[in-house]
Amino acid sequence: MQRVLITAGAGGIGLATAKAFLAQGARVHIADINADAVNAAVVEQENLSGSVTNVADPLAVAQMYRDVVQELGGLDVLVNNAGIAGPTAGIAEYDAEAFSSVIAVNLQGTFNVTQQAIELLKDSPAASIITMSSLAGRFGYPNRIAYSTTKWGLVGFAKTLAMELGPMGITSNTIHPGAVDGPRIMNVFEGRADVSGRTVQEEIDAALANQSVKQFINPDDIAALVLFLAGPHARTISGQMFPIDGDSKAAV
Ligand SMILES: NC(=O)c1ccc[n+]([C@@H]2O[C@H](COP(=O)([O-])OP(=O)(O)OC[C@H]3O[C@@H](n4cnc5c(N)ncnc54)[C@H](O)[C@@H]3O)[C@@H](O)[C@H]2O)c1
Repeated sequence: MQRVLITAGAGGIGLATAKAFLAQGARVHIADINADAVNAAVVEQENLSGSVTNVADPLAVAQMYRDVVQELGGLDVLVNNAGIAGPTAGIAEYDAEAFSSVIAVNLQGTFNVTQQAIELLKDSPAASIITMSSLAGRFGYPNRIAYSTTKWGLVGFAKTLAMELGPMGITSNTIHPGAVDGPRIMNVFEGRADVSGRTVQEEIDAALANQSVKQFINPDDIAALVLFLAGPHARTISGQMFPIDGDSKAAV
């Protein structure tokens, strides 16, 4: 039975991934800053436990790992899914504190969670780290400089982990979703429309114009990719980037 930790697992892609692991018999722990969402998920899903955790706070992460050890007794799969978008603005107007906040969650937070996972993953017979980057980690992303910077940063992070941890039998890969169906992407389009002066529908059409396959990404499909990368047929896949984005040509 796989023991799985998913950051930002109480909503969106993280919760879809938690449910997919649970459906195949795994034991899952979620770490999410939203207490109400953690409580709701834990009540709703059997075999799911959770901690209310801000990944940017290393002490909170240490407390979260005490919960993981108590609930799971070890760890086989770490899904680094926590990431915030930050504001939508060109660099000249971009708020410096907001830039630091995005770095704190997306990069420092992923570092905190991963560093403290190594002791547990080392003892797993088949350990995997899957880190959620983005389309913005393959292309530049106008008006979202902090987000794009961190999502590219996670590629270097994950590729370095692959090299450092591969000899211990731990794999590390990144997933790069395009625009995922759901409320979050609609907020992005509304933010873009505010900046560009176009309508929200015009922003949606412009986003799909950059994709060969004209549909937004289903979170369940991302979850299935995570499961594959954590599964028995992916033991020699490491240090790789996996786009799931309808063959997008740009993150604009
Ligand atoms: N939705 C998309 O279109 C899309 C596209 C590409 C990549 N991604 C990436 O996928 C990941 C998940 O995105 P999503 O759209 O499912 O997110 P979401 O916004 O729907 O949910 C994210 C969850 O993260 C939690 N969270 C926020 N800050 C946190 C923190 N500091 N510590 C712990 N938890 C925190 C929230 O409480 C929420 O439950 C992110 O890393 C995001 O950058 C999303």
